[in-house]
Amino acid sequence: MAAMAILTHQQNTMNEILRLYPVVPFNVRLALHDTTLPRGGGPDGLSPIGILKDTPIGYTTLGMQRRPDLYPSSWSADPSLSPLNFNPSRWYNWQPKPWTYIPFNGGPRICIGQQFALTEMGYTIVRMLQRFERIVPMGEGGRMGRGMSDHWDGDVVLKAEIVLQPGMGVWVGFWERGVEPDRKGEGVGEKRELVGV
Ligand code: HEM
Repeated sequence: MAAMAILTHQQNTMNEILRLYPVVPFNVRLALHDTTLPRGGGPDGLSPIGILKDTPIGYTTLGMQRRPDLYPSSWSADPSLSPLNFNPSRWYNWQPKPWTYIPFNGGPRICIGQQFALTEMGYTIVRMLQRFERIVPMGEGGRMGRGMSDHWDGDVVLKAEIVLQPGMGVWVGFWERGVEPDRKGEGVGEKRELVGV
């Protein structure tokens, strides 16, 4: 049972990562025939809009998956549930509405590597957690905050090309079991590594 709970949390964590940082942040589709979209027309953009055949329609998964109006309004009473916050626990009691969470897209062109990718991610996370006792964000360039308790808590710089990437690396301190860092963030012992991923 404990293993099941851990796996559920791991799945929730991977869902949350792909919600805030979808690997394919922007995408485009072409209309196959003249059609309408339910919103986007009229002076306020809330009326239907006509779309001619072959019109490319761009959309952003990155933007949509952070849109406050697509989340339960309870987040305004509990800021930890804000769609802008990284909070894997939201997935215990919430399921996104269809087509509002599409890191692997959906429909006939859904990613065929989805299960493989999630299995690989899950395996890699488990192997890292088995080896390292603590994995701590270090801020851009790998500098710690003022002390060990002041972890850098800024958001990462994003670089969006075809796939989303970290714009300035992801600077992370890894502590192997039994190795304590000092208060300047310098490692004690040879095993500590600072890695820009
Ligand atoms: C976290 C990892 C991955 C994410 C977020 C992801 C996401 C996506 C997305 C959004 C699409 C739809 C693109 C489009 O139609 O515009 C796609 C398609 C595709 N993905 Fe992935 N992918 C991932 C990993 C993989 C892996 C590991 C494989 C293969 C082993 C793979 C194979 C494919 C293929 C072949 C398509 C094209 C499917 C089609 O058009 O019929 N993907 N992926």
